Amino acid sequence: MAGTGNEQARKTAEGLAYHTGFGNEHSSEAVPGALPAGRNSPQRAPLGLYAEQLSGSAFTEPRAHNLRSWLYRIRPSAAHPPFVRAERHALRSAPFTDCTPDPNRLRWNPLPEPAGPTDFLDGLWTLGGNGDATQRTGMAVHLYYANTSMDRRVFGNADGELLIVPERGGLLLRTELGLLHAEPGEVALIPRGVRFRVELLDATARGYVCENYGRPFQLPDLGPIGANGLANARDFRAPVAAYEDVEGPVEVVNKFCGHLWTATYDHSPLDVVAWHGNHVPYVYDLRRFNVIGSISYDHPDPSIFTVLTSPSDTPGLAGVDFVVFAPRWLVGEDTFRPPYFHRNVMTEYMGLIEGAYDAKAEGFVPGGGSLHNMMSAHGPDRETFDRASAAELPPQKIDDGLAFMFETRWPLTLTEQARDAGHLQRGYDDVWQGLQRHFRP
Ligand SMILES: [Fe+2]
Repeated sequence: MAGTGNEQARKTAEGLAYHTGFGNEHSSEAVPGALPAGRNSPQRAPLGLYAEQLSGSAFTEPRAHNLRSWLYRIRPSAAHPPFVRAERHALRSAPFTDCTPDPNRLRWNPLPEPAGPTDFLDGLWTLGGNGDATQRTGMAVHLYYANTSMDRRVFGNADGELLIVPERGGLLLRTELGLLHAEPGEVALIPRGVRFRVELLDATARGYVCENYGRPFQLPDLGPIGANGLANARDFRAPVAAYEDVEGPVEVVNKFCGHLWTATYDHSPLDVVAWHGNHVPYVYDLRRFNVIGSISYDHPDPSIFTVLTSPSDTPGLAGVDFVVFAPRWLVGEDTFRPPYFHRNVMTEYMGLIEGAYDAKAEGFVPGGGSLHNMMSAHGPDRETFDRASAAELPPQKIDDGLAFMFETRWPLTLTEQARDAGHLQRGYDDVWQGLQRHFRP
C-alpha cells in the first residue's frame, strides 16, 4: 500500500530540476555563494564548508576519460567512525566461484515478492557475473524487489558503478550530488563511490541493476552513423545540488571488495551544498533513444542498439554494453525480421521492462530475464520463426515492448541462489524444440 511517504517522495521527484548533457563539466550550488570561484580548494571554503575531491578515475588518466567532482560539504567524508562487517543478504560480488560456469540457456521468472519490509539495498539479489571487483574488471547482474524506502540509511559502492533499470515502481534517488527521479522506461546511473538513498514512489519497486566494475560507461562511438543518433548526449540528466542538514544517527553502508561494511554516522553524509565536476549520477529516458536500423534488408547486429558501453583495453571489445530494444519500425525486404539465430562470443543477459519481445512469443516476461552465455546457440523460438518466415512484409511498427541487454565480453557465472532459484524456468530449451526440418536437396 502506497503511504504518505511515497506521495511526498513522488511530489519531490516530479518537481526536480536538472542539468543536461552526458560527460559535461557541471557546477551547482544549493545555496548562493557556496561554490568557490576560480579555485577548487581555497584557504577557507565559502560558508564554512569543507572542500573534498571525489575521483572516478586515476588522477593521471587522459583528459577524455578523467572523472572527478569537487564537493563542498557540511562535514568532510573523512569524519566517520570505523566500519564493521554487515549482513549482505542476497547481494554477491565477483569473483563468482560457487558454481561451475554453465553453457545452458537459462531463463527466470521475476523475483518473488519479499516476505517482510525490504528496502532497495536489502532487496538486491545477485544473479551472477564475471571478472573480479578487486581488479576492477567485469560486471554483475543484480535484481531488486523493494517494498519500503531506505530510512536513515545511505549506500555507497566502492566496487563499481550501478546502472539501475526500474521495471516496476518509480524511484527517488537522493545522492550526494542531488536528487534524481527514475521511472520504468528510464535508467539511472550511480557512479562508483557516490552515496545515495533510494525512496519508493509506489508501493513496490522492482528492476535490474548492472554493476560495472570496469571502465565507467560512456556513449559508444558512432562511426559512419555520424554526429548524432542512438542515445543523444543532451538527453542525459544530472542532478542539481541538494543537501540534507541532518544531525543524528544515519547508517552508512559501504560495499567494498564484495562485502558490506556499515557505520553509524552522527549526521547525514548527503550534506553536499555545492559541487562541480563530471563524476556525476544521471538518468536517461530510454524512449529518447534514436533507434537506427536497416532500411533495405537484413537485421543489423544488435550492437546498433547500444546505449552505453564500458570499453576494455581492446578496441571494440566492451567489458559490458547496455543495449535497448526500443520501439522501432521494421521495413526490411526479403528479410527474416526478428533477431536471427546466432552463437555469440559475447554473453547476453536480457531483461524485459514492459510488454513483449519480438523474438520470443511467450515465457519472457517483464521482471524476468534470460541468460545466453558465451557461444550458446539461441534465437527466435519456434512459433516466432514460423510466423516470421511466412509473414507478409509491409512496414511494421514494433511498439509493444521495451527489452534490454547487458552484453559482456566474459562468460557469466551464476550464484548458487540463481542456479537453484524456484523462479528459474525448467525446460527453457523446449522453445527451440519442434523447429522442423525443411531441407529439400
Ligand atoms: Fe543473442
